[in-house]
Amino acid sequence: MTVRKAWLVLAGLLLLLPASSGAGPAQRVVVLCSPNPAWCDAIKEEFPKATGIGLDYVRLSSGEGLARLRAERRNPSFDVWFGGTGDPHMVAFEEGLTEAYRPRSWNDLRPELREAVAGKYIPLYAGILGWALNERVLRERNAPVPRTWKDLADPRYRGLVAYPNPNTSGTGYTMLATLVQLYGEREAFDLLKQIHRNVAEYTRSGAAPGQLTGRGEVAVGITFIHDAVDQVLKGFPISYGAPRDGTGYEIGGLSLVKGGPNRAAAITFIEWALTPEAQRLGPEKGQSYQIPSNSKTPIPPVAPRFEAFRVIKYDFVKYGSAAVRDRLVKRWTDEVFPLPK
Ligand code: G6P
Repeated sequence: MTVRKAWLVLAGLLLLLPASSGAGPAQRVVVLCSPNPAWCDAIKEEFPKATGIGLDYVRLSSGEGLARLRAERRNPSFDVWFGGTGDPHMVAFEEGLTEAYRPRSWNDLRPELREAVAGKYIPLYAGILGWALNERVLRERNAPVPRTWKDLADPRYRGLVAYPNPNTSGTGYTMLATLVQLYGEREAFDLLKQIHRNVAEYTRSGAAPGQLTGRGEVAVGITFIHDAVDQVLKGFPISYGAPRDGTGYEIGGLSLVKGGPNRAAAITFIEWALTPEAQRLGPEKGQSYQIPSNSKTPIPPVAPRFEAFRVIKYDFVKYGSAAVRDRLVKRWTDEVFPLPK
C-alpha cells in the first residue's frame, strides 16, 4: 500500500468513529419518558450534570409506551422507562420487555408502594385519580358540581366531560379499572356507556383533560389530581376533587428495558432517578406534584394526600396483568368508544 493510500484508509476509519468521541459526554442513555414533558426536560438537563452521561428522551403516554416497547421487542431503542402509570410497566415485565432490577435505595422506597407492585417494576411516585372542575362552565350550563362517578352519567353533563382514551393513556385505564373494582365489570361498562354520551373529547394523554378544563372547553376533566393542581398553579380558574364513591390511584413506574443499547448507563440513571435530589426535580422543575417513592424525598406541600380522599384498595397485580388489561381495553374500544353520542 502506498503512503497516500494508507492515509486515505486512516481518514476513512476516523470518519467511522462516533461523532461524540471528541467533545461532550461519550455515554448516553435513551429514556422512554411518560410524565409531564417539563419533568422529562428537567431530567435531560440535570442527569448529565450529575453523572457526565448524556440523555435523550421520547415522551409517550403510558399505553403508547407499552405499544412501542412491544413493537421494538427484537431491537429495543430505549434503555429505561421513566414514569407513567404502573399497569403497562407490569405488562412489559410479564412479557419480558423489561427486567427486574433492585436499586441500592430499595429499602428507602415507601414499603406500601414496593409491596403493591410485587417486584414487577420500581415505584417512582404515587398519584390519586380524580377530576378537574370548571365551576363557571358548570354554572353556565346549570349543572351541579359532580360528587360521584355515577353523577357523570347525568345528561346535564352532555358535552362537558373530557376523558383520556384508555388505549393510549394510563390515566384513562386507571379510571376504567377503578370503576370495575368499585362496581363490578357489568355495571362499570353500563356506566361507561352512559358517561360516553357526555364526553366531548377522548384525549390521548392523561393530563390533557385538566388543560381542557382550565381553558373552559369542558367542565369536568378526568385526570390525576396532581395534574389539576398543576393547572391551578398555572393560574387557571379551576378546582379539583375526587369522586366520593371512591377513587383509584397510580404507582408510577421506573423500569430497566431488557436488551437496551446502553445497559450500564440505564442502571446509573435508575440509581440517580431514585435519589431525593433527582426526585425533587418533579415539583421544582417538572410541574409534577405526586408523592415521591423515596421516603427521604420531601413530599411537595401541594401534593394531593391519600388521607384527604376515599381511595380504594386498588389491585395493581390483577389490573396490571396483560390478560386483564388488554381484555378490558379491548372491551371498551369495541363496546363503548364506537357508540353514538
Ligand atoms: C401525567 C401524570 C403522571 C401520570 C401520567 C400518565 O403526566 O402527572 O402522574 O403517570 O400522566 O400519563 P398518561 O398520558 O399515560 O395518562
